[in-house]
Amino acid sequence: MLLYIHFPFCKSKCIYCSFYSVKINDELVKLYLNGLFEEIKYWKDKLPDVKFKSIYIGGGTPSILKLEYLDQIINALFKNFKFENYIEFSFEGNPDSLKDLVYLKELKGFGVNRISIGIQSIRDNYLKFLGRTHSAKDGIFSVKLCNLAKFENINIDLIWGLPEQTVASWLHDLRQICKLDIQHISCYGLTVEKDTKLHTMVKKNMVKLPNENRLASLYIGGADFLESRGFIQYEISNFSKLGYVCMHNMGYWEQMDYLGLGPSAVSTIGNKRWENSKNIVEYSQNPCRRKEIKLDKKDHINEFIMLSLRTTRGLNLKEYAKKTGENFWKKHHKMINLLHRNNLVKIRKGYLSLTKNGFLVSNSIIGNFFI
Ligand SMILES: C[S@@+](CC[C@H](N)C(=O)[O-])C[C@H]1O[C@@H](n2cnc3c(N)ncnc32)[C@H](O)[C@@H]1O
Ligand code: SF4
Repeated sequence: MLLYIHFPFCKSKCIYCSFYSVKINDELVKLYLNGLFEEIKYWKDKLPDVKFKSIYIGGGTPSILKLEYLDQIINALFKNFKFENYIEFSFEGNPDSLKDLVYLKELKGFGVNRISIGIQSIRDNYLKFLGRTHSAKDGIFSVKLCNLAKFENINIDLIWGLPEQTVASWLHDLRQICKLDIQHISCYGLTVEKDTKLHTMVKKNMVKLPNENRLASLYIGGADFLESRGFIQYEISNFSKLGYVCMHNMGYWEQMDYLGLGPSAVSTIGNKRWENSKNIVEYSQNPCRRKEIKLDKKDHINEFIMLSLRTTRGLNLKEYAKKTGENFWKKHHKMINLLHRNNLVKIRKGYLSLTKNGFLVSNSIIGNFFI
């Protein structure tokens, strides 16, 4: 099973982000911690035999958490849960709070062995536009500091699809980024989420985002470039050097059970899903109350289709037959032929997967295969 801890605090809100996070304040952090410790104890009793394979502390911005509090969280996890001998332990941070070598060495001492840095861009004008609180220099510096702290599994998050971004400038940025000693890159196309400042700006025509053709060239150009530099694409937005696939995220795409703790976190175990409150005060008052959703066979199969088609390996046709009693090819051959003629899907070694062009329009392809 996978373990995710949501840390719902940031220094300030980026214009595009709809993840649950609020401005950090010590009172709220204390409420959050009390809730989290209670939730950990609750699950300890419910899952006495589970051994976790990975920990992912994400957010929000976990790197703004004081070390003494982080120490308490990690102690609570190791005291109450069981883990495999080797676990992948990821920790997310922003460049402006990953500036201190002592902090990074302490993180390593806590067992963190994978660090994920939200660099987003190496251009100050874009960072300013996105509402980030760090500079391009800070981003590069934080990677170098993680190298100095001897982290050997470093991810950086990047955003593409920015106003007036050209393929030449994007490839120029990627060229600089590939000079860094990093093992993993998550490259997200900027999406306009409801209830964000960006959404309002787009609606009021205050910002002009690249058109579809430009987006396609940015995505495919970027992915081809990263592959030429030894980063293997294994999911729509994820690229890694050989041996550095993120086990935690891959587990999620492979439908492993996961336990999510903290406000807004989601857990899925067998055919049950729980959603925690998206409000820190409400969460801390009753961290064990959560919305329960029963997943039926159809939900499970549709998630299998959706999640596996996000990966470059794709959907295992034998597994589909086992789950549904149906032959995927026979059921969808007309659609598959049409998509194949348009270079959107491929079938290889018993797997159906999307091509890069297919990934670009994955939302409109995947739904066609749902049962
Ligand atoms: C929720 S953040 C948490 C990590 C950290 N606070 C950071 O900003 O890097 C995880 C990643 O999601 C990305 N993200 C959030 N909303 C997005 C959006 N609308 N479009 C593209 N990327 C987005 C962030 O930029 C970040 O790289
Ligand atoms: S992108 Fe990261 S730093 Fe920005 S608001 Fe979202 S979680 Fe916070």
